[in-house]
Amino acid sequence: MTAQTLALTGTAFHTPERGRLEVLEEHLFCVDAQGRIDAVLPPNHPQYGARKEAARQAGALVELSDGQFLLPGLVDLHIHAPQWPQMGKALDVPLEVWLQKYTFPLEARYVDVGYAREVYADLVDNLLANGTTTALYFATVHVEASLALAEICLEKGQRALVGKVVMDDPEQCPPFYRDADAILAVSDTRRFIEAVRALDGGERPLVLPVITPRFIPSCTDEALSGLGELARDYGCHVQTHCAESDWAKAFVEQRFGRTDAASLDGFGLLTRHTILAHSNFIDGEDMDLIERQGAGVAHCPLSNFYFANAVFPLREALDRHMHVGLGTDISGGYSPSLFDGCRHALSASRTLQSGVHAGLPAHERGASGEPITHLEAFWLATAGGAEALDLPTGSFRVGHDFDALLIDTRASASNVHVGKAEDTLEDVFQKIVLNAARANIAKVWVRGRTVVGR
Ligand code: GUN
Ligand code: FE
Repeated sequence: MTAQTLALTGTAFHTPERGRLEVLEEHLFCVDAQGRIDAVLPPNHPQYGARKEAARQAGALVELSDGQFLLPGLVDLHIHAPQWPQMGKALDVPLEVWLQKYTFPLEARYVDVGYAREVYADLVDNLLANGTTTALYFATVHVEASLALAEICLEKGQRALVGKVVMDDPEQCPPFYRDADAILAVSDTRRFIEAVRALDGGERPLVLPVITPRFIPSCTDEALSGLGELARDYGCHVQTHCAESDWAKAFVEQRFGRTDAASLDGFGLLTRHTILAHSNFIDGEDMDLIERQGAGVAHCPLSNFYFANAVFPLREALDRHMHVGLGTDISGGYSPSLFDGCRHALSASRTLQSGVHAGLPAHERGASGEPITHLEAFWLATAGGAEALDLPTGSFRVGHDFDALLIDTRASASNVHVGKAEDTLEDVFQKIVLNAARANIAKVWVRGRTVVGR
């Protein structure tokens, strides 16, 4: 038997399929030298004892104590790294004003790579401490600062997908913050893709480049079609904002005479590896199209309460088996925690289904369909997001990377109260989803490497 590089004993929770909780009670989790889960063994398995002992002798055994549980690492499917200094403020105006008044001036500062390094190091430390083991990032238009983000993620061990933002339309983007022209926007994106690939050139890169037109309103047709060609040539991930608000939806429909999703598809930007942020205003045909192309949606419920003018039709998207996960959308969303993301997704879904206007009779108040459950919310934050990205994380399946959180319900600042007699393990899981916070995250691993805790 080869020496184990990492093995753990304890109880884990995961939702490998939407809506299905699996409790792996007192199992042994074996991680190979590449950081992949190579065995998940119940206590009565014939190899359990020998493999546990081998790990102990190799000094590689972690034994969870009472009140501690393993969860898969969390996947943030939409976050703006440069907006970290703005998180928790500047939410007093609509999206189109917020961009011009606060966000573009802030993002323009990342021309200074020193500033970028300082902010991004702090951001990645904080996201890891909040349990985000995978993040799909918008950076800024600047190639060097965006590369710095990719380097910092690699150094600190966070699985990351990073995009140099493209925004070249002088009608919509201020002179102090935009790509000089479409040709440069596309060639800079190509340079960025190649540089990220050179940075992490192994067979299983931890950090990946992403083609990132900010959203249709900020890009010229020439830039959009150039980026579509890059998506075809490089086969890398694509991200953008889609049908987020009344304003954004109307802008695209006036310009192209068709929906945001259909327009993106026309430019070759809707692929199996595309993530569309928000997509609150997509219709049935858009959903069919997104599903057919295998693209995914990053649902950002907290941000939507501020900027969207509507709630994403999550139940309908899930019923159609679209790829969906959760995004914090920092700083349109003010929380870095995907546990909060789960809670906001639950609230948004319940609000949409029950309705809000007390002046209406109950049967006229809400949308049809069932609200999501805490199991579905957690799936969105883990396996759902991972499937949307087509990456081997999000659950404790053998062959997946070991991206995990050690949750300590007995941490000194814990809001998770576990009653020994009255709480089943299913209850404990629900309590974690509804109340876990940073204080409960004692340790974090990405691909078997300890990135938080000791
Ligand atoms: N649409 C275009 N840019 C942005 C952004 O930075 N945040 C959000 N929420 N929507 C956008
Ligand atoms: Fe966003």
